Parts: sequence; C-alpha cells; structure tokens
Amino acid sequence: MLVANAACPTQAYIDGRWCDAADERRFDVTNPSTGAVIASVADCGVAETRAAIAAAKAAQPGWAALPAGQRSTILRRWRDLMVERADELALILTRENGKPLSEARGEILYGASYLEWFAEEAKRVYGEVVPSSSASNRILVIKQAVGVCAAITPWNFPNAMLMRKAAAALAAGCTMVAKPAAETPLSALIAAKLGEEAGVPAGVFNIVTGTRAAEIGGELTAHPDVRKITFTGSTAVGRKLLEQSAATVKKASMELGGNAPFIVFDDADLDAAIDGAVASKFRNAGQTCVCANRMFVQAGIMPEFARRLAARVAALKVGDGEMTGCEVGPLINEAGLAKTERLVAAARADGAKVLTGGAKHVAGELFYQPTVIEGVRQEMDIAQEEIFGPVAPLIGFDTEAEVIAMANDTIYGLAAYLFTRDIGRAWRVGEALEYGMVGINEGILSSAAAPFGGVKQSGFGREGSRHGLEDYLEIKYMLMGGLSA
Ligand code: SIN
Repeated sequence: MLVANAACPTQAYIDGRWCDAADERRFDVTNPSTGAVIASVADCGVAETRAAIAAAKAAQPGWAALPAGQRSTILRRWRDLMVERADELALILTRENGKPLSEARGEILYGASYLEWFAEEAKRVYGEVVPSSSASNRILVIKQAVGVCAAITPWNFPNAMLMRKAAAALAAGCTMVAKPAAETPLSALIAAKLGEEAGVPAGVFNIVTGTRAAEIGGELTAHPDVRKITFTGSTAVGRKLLEQSAATVKKASMELGGNAPFIVFDDADLDAAIDGAVASKFRNAGQTCVCANRMFVQAGIMPEFARRLAARVAALKVGDGEMTGCEVGPLINEAGLAKTERLVAAARADGAKVLTGGAKHVAGELFYQPTVIEGVRQEMDIAQEEIFGPVAPLIGFDTEAEVIAMANDTIYGLAAYLFTRDIGRAWRVGEALEYGMVGINEGILSSAAAPFGGVKQSGFGREGSRHGLEDYLEIKYMLMGGLSA
C-alpha cells in the first residue's frame, strides 16, 4: 500500500491528534489510473466534526492573539516543508487523483505559493482612522479574524484548493476545520502533517476525513460556532450549503462551477491560441472549474484552428500519471466518465463532428481520449453543461457582438479567455464578459497574487491576492470619545 512507504497519515487530524472515527469506520482510497486501493482512511461523521469545531473554537483566541509576524513565520515554515517535500507530496497526489506527476508537482508548488503569499499578507492587516464630525472623538476601524472557518475542498486540486483557503484563514487569525473530498483525502492529511511539523498549534487546523459528506457538511453549516463556510465544488452543492448556512447567518465564500468561453478572433496569434487552448482544456484531463468549456472560433480561422488543434490533441500522451511524459490522466470516477460519454454522444447525434478522440481510451477503465469536436452549437448540452472531461467543443462565430452574447448566455461566470492582437478589442471584450476572471492571450490564469473567483452562479468571494485575506476578516468600528480638553 502506497501510504506505508510515503509516511502519509490515514487518520483524521483533530486538536493536534491523529484519530480514528469513534465507530472505527474506514473507507478505501483508490488510484483512478489502476483501480488499486492505495489507503484505508478514517471515515468520520458528526461526532468527530463536533470535536474538531470545539478544538478550533478553543484554539482561535490564542492563535489570533499571536503577533502577525509569528503566525507568518509558521506559515512560511509550512510552505518551506511543502516545497522541500514536493516530490513525495506529488506522488501521493498523482496516486489518489490520477493527474500527471508533473502537474501534481506543479500543484504542490501552487498550493505552497498561497502559504508564502498569505504569510506575507498576514503582516498587512491595516486599520483606518476616519475624520470625525465631533472634536471630542475619533473614529477607528480595525480588522479582526472572523473566527472558526469550515472548508469543504474538492478532489480536482486536493492540495492547492485546501492551501489557498487555509493559508488565508490562518494568516488572518482564524482557525479551520477542513473536510477534503473522499476521493482524495491523503493530500490534505500529509499537508496537515507538515503544518504540525511547521508549528501550527493544536486545534488551529483540523482535518475531518469521511464519506458521509451530507452529515459532515450538515454539521459544519448548522453549527453556530462556525462563523464562515468556504467551499470549492459544484454550483448544486454550493446552493445547498448556502441554504443550510442561512439559519446561523454565516459568512460564505463559494467557488462553484464554470462554463468558460475560450474566444479566438481572426487576428489572434494562432500558435499562442492553440498553446492556450491545450493548456486550458487538457489540464487535469479537463477536470478544472476554469477549463475552456466552449471554444468560440471566428469563421475566417476556423478550418486552420480546428485542423491544428486536432493534430496537437491527437498527439497528447495519455496514461497513468506516473508514466514518464504523461500529459493526460484518467477521469476521477465512473460518473465523470459517463458524463463525458453522454455529452459527446449527444453532440454527435445532433450533427457535431468528432475530429479526434470521441471514445474511451485503452489506458484503463476511467480513461477518455482527448477529443476535439467541431460543428457544436450553443444550445447543445455539451455547450450548456460543465463537461469536466478532456473534450474541446468548437463553435463558430462571425462578429464580436455575437460571440459576447453567446459567451455570456450561461448561468456561470467564473473564467473566460480571449485571443486577439487588437488591444481595443481586448479591452472591449474583456470588459463585456460577465466573468470574475478573464485571460487575455493566456490559457492559464491561476496565481496566488491574483483574486480568483466568479460572478453569477459561479459564486462569490475571492481567493488569493490581498482580497483573499479580506474574506477572513471582519470590520470593527470603534468610536473613541472623551478627547476634548
Ligand atoms: C479549480 O478548478 O477549481 C481551480 C483551478 C485553479 O486554481 O487553477
């Protein structure tokens, strides 16, 4: 079993202790590339979630009272350990998630970059002194930690999505109870172990592992001591968590689904557009919320773009993420594969043409061929739903106004991309797109320095950048009187 070699914990981490579920239940974690069981992990429920919340509550005042510089040093040490052990962490991530080892290593460094960023931001939580209408008082504004935060994190970036929430929360002086996805708990557990080694005090960062997502999520959202819920995942689950959090009026950050348009104008640098399309679409086998989901290509360049993209995609190396040179791994589970197959079959039945791929891949049960489909129309399911698979649907367009209307015609508003060499068009279209993030002549826009997040039903709140810290801070106004002589 992998975890015995890699010294990765398989118990939950609550109040600085590694523990099993009270009822001793465990669940298997499997490698999606091979189907092999790689670990058996504590299957927690409500009791363990409550214990973690109590620990986070008890630890919060002390953690928030530490000088920011000390919190910063601990976060920085955590980042250093993660970078030092990036290869080991990447292997665990690849085995539980399936993504290529090079991408997994990139994700570990990406996750560590949030620790570095927020270690620095921790020291910059500035207040204000506002002029008052009275000579005898002064208006002071200070910022304080929100308190206990609950994080529910996804399987597609099991390290980075956790670290970008935890780093911001802890930098602000909050404590956290995190529930990682049941498909990929190991990356969260090994991260917690490094946090422990870095000196994160008991109770400040807790991990509740388990398959009983509704029970754990129900407790995290209902509990009055949890002051904020932060979630990355589907819009459907986000809506449910918001509903459940309403009774205790929690703060929330929601990073939900997307339906990213990737727009290529006639005047684009085609080499850059094709590189951007491959990077955006096939990262993590198409299983990211910011993946290009609809590729809009202007009529004049459609034949060349389609031909060149299909050739590049046909040459992608598919296989077990541990295979040398692997570029595309498996889908996470049967449901992901079935959805991809359904959307491609429906598009074909509706008259779209598969240029490359379009079927399961021989590499294993959960592999799908990297696929390019042309002749897709906006009303097809494949252009309406988040594909979350390695399939690039091409949709033709003629005018700027037409493509803006189609790009915005969705409930989602997370990421969008556009390729053009006309700077006026780049500004016009960039501003007209109803999305939280727009990549202009770039297919990957993620960075700890940037505010990641969406609009519309892709959610709210920002992660990363200086804005990411604000999401874990409350504003307090203090009126200081008695100042007249
Ligand atoms: C996501 O897909 O949810 C996050 C992707 C990223 O941070 O780049």
